[in-house]
Amino acid sequence: MFVTFEGADGSGKSTQAELLRAALAAEGRDVVLTREPGGTELGEAVRTLVLNGPGMGAWAEAVLFAASRAEHVEKVIRPALERGADVVCDRYVDSSFAYQGIARGLGVDAVVQLNLAVTGGLLPDVTFLLLLDPDVATGRQVDPDRLEREGTELQAKVDAAYRELAKRFPERIVTIDATGEPEAIAREVRERLRDRS
Ligand code: TMP
Repeated sequence: MFVTFEGADGSGKSTQAELLRAALAAEGRDVVLTREPGGTELGEAVRTLVLNGPGMGAWAEAVLFAASRAEHVEKVIRPALERGADVVCDRYVDSSFAYQGIARGLGVDAVVQLNLAVTGGLLPDVTFLLLLDPDVATGRQVDPDRLEREGTELQAKVDAAYRELAKRFPERIVTIDATGEPEAIAREVRERLRDRS
């Protein structure tokens, strides 16, 4: 099972990814928790470059995230899935669709094509999209990175972008109200996952 978590910066997805990993591991399952950008040595280097490096154009940003993803799929995600492990990933292709495709204006179709090419068409079995008021999410950010420093205008666009993606991919994306307590949200995630299996 390949599960991803998505949401605007400050939506709590990293906490939820870890809570799901712990719940699956407690059932005795082999689980790999990973994140994007990151998850490999190259991916972590890309993370530093894109989030803390110089300003860059939207295509440069999209291609760097895609490079990190290509390496991540080849070295971590596919091998884990092939040995029968579950993979829980904090951000994946929908981040590129939302941030670069919609919010940055590259177009979803172009960014989908790029990402299908670099991942060999690997899409998650299920994607949990954590939805939170953009102002609340922005208020939760600590030590903001280059994208977060762009402030509420980008975050509002990202929020709208994710809602559009949920309508476009309703069979894969499950939306979750992320305003409650982390444990309650985690329970809902597990219930929704059980409903689908
Ligand atoms: P985070 O994973 O710590 O939330 O931060 C990653 C940042 O990078 C976040 O602002 C979203 C952004 N991002 C993209 O714009 N496109 C992508 O494909 C990915 C993986 C992340």
